[in-house]
Amino acid sequence: MVVQTGYGVKSAQILVLPGDGIGAEIMPHAVRVMRKVTEGVIDLHVDEADAGGISIDKHGVPLTPETLRAAQEADAVLLGAVGGPKWDDLPVEQKPEKGLLGLRSGLDAYANLRPAILFEPLAAASTLQPQFVSNLDMLIVRELTGGIYFGEPRGVHVEGNVRRGVNTYVYDETEIQRISRTAFELARKRSHKLCSVDKANVLEVTQLWRDVVNEVHADYQDVELTHLLVDNAAMQLVREPKQFDVIVTGNMFGDILSDVAAMLTGSLGMLPSASLNSDNRGIYEPVHGTAPDIAGKNLANPLATILSVAMMLRYGLDAGEQADRIEQAVDKVLASGYRTGDIMPSTPDDSIQQVGTDAMTDAVLQELG
Ligand code: IPM
Ligand code: MG
Repeated sequence: MVVQTGYGVKSAQILVLPGDGIGAEIMPHAVRVMRKVTEGVIDLHVDEADAGGISIDKHGVPLTPETLRAAQEADAVLLGAVGGPKWDDLPVEQKPEKGLLGLRSGLDAYANLRPAILFEPLAAASTLQPQFVSNLDMLIVRELTGGIYFGEPRGVHVEGNVRRGVNTYVYDETEIQRISRTAFELARKRSHKLCSVDKANVLEVTQLWRDVVNEVHADYQDVELTHLLVDNAAMQLVREPKQFDVIVTGNMFGDILSDVAAMLTGSLGMLPSASLNSDNRGIYEPVHGTAPDIAGKNLANPLATILSVAMMLRYGLDAGEQADRIEQAVDKVLASGYRTGDIMPSTPDDSIQQVGTDAMTDAVLQELG
């Protein structure tokens, strides 16, 4: 529990799961930022455990029951990223990603918040022209513990001599109701606009999705609700992204659309996320993966994980002021011209300096004073 220990100092238990690839590489840097910004404000107790490929290598499974229990007992979980070519040939059930899904579902972290915010100095790093992305600030609310990711039956079976693969896209109305409420509440705190994304013209399960979102809307008449089919939503995101404020959608569509939204802001290397349960406990992780091609070379962008620390402070530890400080520091560092390789402008610019993972983190730490 986050407890007040007097003189305004809280104490909090954090579980850090570095994972694989650049996830593991970045994590010590993000922890440095977390410690620095909470100095004298939050008494952090940080434990570390294995998840993903490293857990397969050391313990034979991508998520041990002990690690899941530690995650359930922590006030917040900070996760790097999991997966990599080394484990790609394992059956789906044993892959590193299964550990991540087990963690999400074991914490009942059904509400995945993925903000796509353009830091103004990065407008030139987007593949869209600056006028389309300048001041972009949107939020994708992705359902994270249901839908086709978890539906049964699933698997690949041989029938006769033919292999047949099955997954099941299923939601019950309670799952749709709770994620809708989360999204409406968040829309209320922003510009009172919510767009729900489905494929109601083809998939019955998403017709139910649309019906339930409409029903929940009755309690949120002050929020303007629209619906888009997912193919159109993908197109609109790259055509005119600033028409969106909050988007709510299911697990798989949210996975896809959040990568699109991320790229609008210049790089997947910039985007944090929070995955929350109904007690506001959850997992904080960058949207990017393990990037095995650049892992261990001091090239990875640490900002998505550092910004995930900010989300953790804001949503998990009720420390909005410290979250703001991190975000402002990142903004200043970018304005000063520091860039990792993924956010370098496409045209040469003398005011821009390419730096590695550690120098980027040092620059953030310096801004934090
Ligand atoms: C994400 C990732 C995961 C997902 C993978 C690693 C299982 O792509 O968090 O977006 O599909 O949810
Ligand atoms: Mg994804």
